[in-house]
Amino acid sequence: MCGIVGYIGERQATEVCLAGLKRLEYRGYDSAGIAVVQDDGTLEVTKVVGKLANLAQALEEQPVDGTLGVGHTRWATHGKPSKINSHPHTSNDGRIALVHNGIIENYAELRDQLTEEGFEFVSETDTEVIVHLVDKYYDGDLAEAFRMAARDLEGAFAVGIVCADNPDQMVAARRFSPLVVGIGEGENFIASDMGAVREWTDQVYVIDDDEMAVITRDSIELTDLEGNPVEREPYTIPWPADAAQKGGHKHFMHKEIHEQPRAMRECLLGRLSDPEKSINLEGLNMSEQEIQSLRKVVFTACGTAYHAGLVGRFLMEKLARIPSEADLAAELRARDPVVLDGTLAIVVSQSGETADTLVALRELKEKGAKVVSVVNVVDSSIARESDGVVYIQAGPEIGVASTKAYTLQILTIALIVAHFADVRGAASEHELIELRRAMLKLPEQAQELLEREEDVKRVAEKYYESPNALYLGRGVNLPSAMEGALKLKEISYIHAEGYSAGEMKHGPIALVEPNLFTVAIAVKGDVYDKMIGNIQEIKARSGPVIGVAFDGDTEIPRQADDVLWVPECPELVSPVTTAIPLQLLSYHIADMLGREIDQPRNLAKTVTVE
Ligand code: AGP
Repeated sequence: MCGIVGYIGERQATEVCLAGLKRLEYRGYDSAGIAVVQDDGTLEVTKVVGKLANLAQALEEQPVDGTLGVGHTRWATHGKPSKINSHPHTSNDGRIALVHNGIIENYAELRDQLTEEGFEFVSETDTEVIVHLVDKYYDGDLAEAFRMAARDLEGAFAVGIVCADNPDQMVAARRFSPLVVGIGEGENFIASDMGAVREWTDQVYVIDDDEMAVITRDSIELTDLEGNPVEREPYTIPWPADAAQKGGHKHFMHKEIHEQPRAMRECLLGRLSDPEKSINLEGLNMSEQEIQSLRKVVFTACGTAYHAGLVGRFLMEKLARIPSEADLAAELRARDPVVLDGTLAIVVSQSGETADTLVALRELKEKGAKVVSVVNVVDSSIARESDGVVYIQAGPEIGVASTKAYTLQILTIALIVAHFADVRGAASEHELIELRRAMLKLPEQAQELLEREEDVKRVAEKYYESPNALYLGRGVNLPSAMEGALKLKEISYIHAEGYSAGEMKHGPIALVEPNLFTVAIAVKGDVYDKMIGNIQEIKARSGPVIGVAFDGDTEIPRQADDVLWVPECPELVSPVTTAIPLQLLSYHIADMLGREIDQPRNLAKTVTVE
């Protein structure tokens, strides 16, 4: 997930683009750049690796004058963070500059084709194919050149394009990745989201898929990618400029909870698009023969990532039928594990920098395990030290409490498990199709769950003053209970325990009393009846219960005091959907308690010490 901006008007383009990129830095910050069409008709490109501050410094040292420009802050997806991979990318003659957010799925074949046609590639990115395609079709009409280029593109894009031949025009277009056009007086803007233009205007056009904008200082022409005019009413941004980075959300955590549907779609892009087709996992770096000869899988991680690893362990054994285990990274080292031949370590980490996890990775590698990591931050330490990496494509996660990274870690692991089950013939074609279909449905179901937020808030209002909580689950949803409890305790400071429901009668049930609420994850599946029994045990001791149940369930509302409803899905993927109401429950309880939700006390986003 990257951030793009563009400006055409009377101000200095570098000033406007830098300020806009600052508002988008949450979208990615491993490299940044700006291209400006200067008054003398040349195109000047400034790019840096690292934070946006490095770009500001570079422009201070070597100012670039011009009132037309595009800018970009990168969240690397293809090609490591480096100056040469950062955007804007330019045509070989240096006349056209382009910034891009999204993933071009057919970039490899386009790159080969364009190379054969004589275009020279300098970066490892998918984006570069777009600017060379535009150049290929360019004959003086930049908009028409992009329309023709778009016909060759598969995948997601939001682009901003400028050409030194025409200092009075900027072109922008979108497919799947977000894009807005800011409407000014004698000036106009483009950006990945409204926050980046709010400083200068509250009027924007929200661009839809396969639409484009041809923009001058005094006009904005909206068309589809065939060139047909598009009618669109301007949208008035309802919130003030300073709320921009959070896109109008009160906290980053809330914003990231709401990013999950889009992030899930981006995670699936290029990997799974049709339930009848096998899964494509670029970066896994494992041959079919290696997958078939696997004898054991070991998941290791910390915190929320560990809970995703626990789900992965369950899925790997259930579907791929490979003996599996999941261990806390700090504990794995402490037990000096025996690693058999044919062992695969799956290392899970949002940041890719967690010290305990990195040390566990090294230990397993040293003992002969093959290492594949499931990571969010591209080119992070854990990614670099792995034999294979499957990125979760969540985009930067700023809130200390991990939310979108968790559901995307599970989704990414489920893709790996489904691929292994397919290659090893461990699941029937029907089971695989059903699993892939269920995964493809998750973004839509996540959106449905977010639309029920007010219902969750009403439940939070009933329980936010409780001093203690218990989260119960079984089977694939035991990790869901553990994760729900972690979310609550780390942002609300209410003591909460995630526990195996089957273990309740072996001690913890002594805790049950009226001011301890219990969340019981009781979705239809292998352990449903037992979960109902556990709810009854709690109720018999006057403990209030919040049930988590599939839509339409008639038994849970009879048994529990409150219900958090979840759209029906196969039990095996329900840890993705049950996570979202529990994230919202924790968020609203913590907000009602007035907690520092994005930076809870004593915590850091990345624990780089053991
Ligand atoms: C989760 O909300 C916490 N922020 C924490 O448990 C986190 O998941 C853990 O520190 C692991 O971090 P990582 O995913 O970056 O390795």
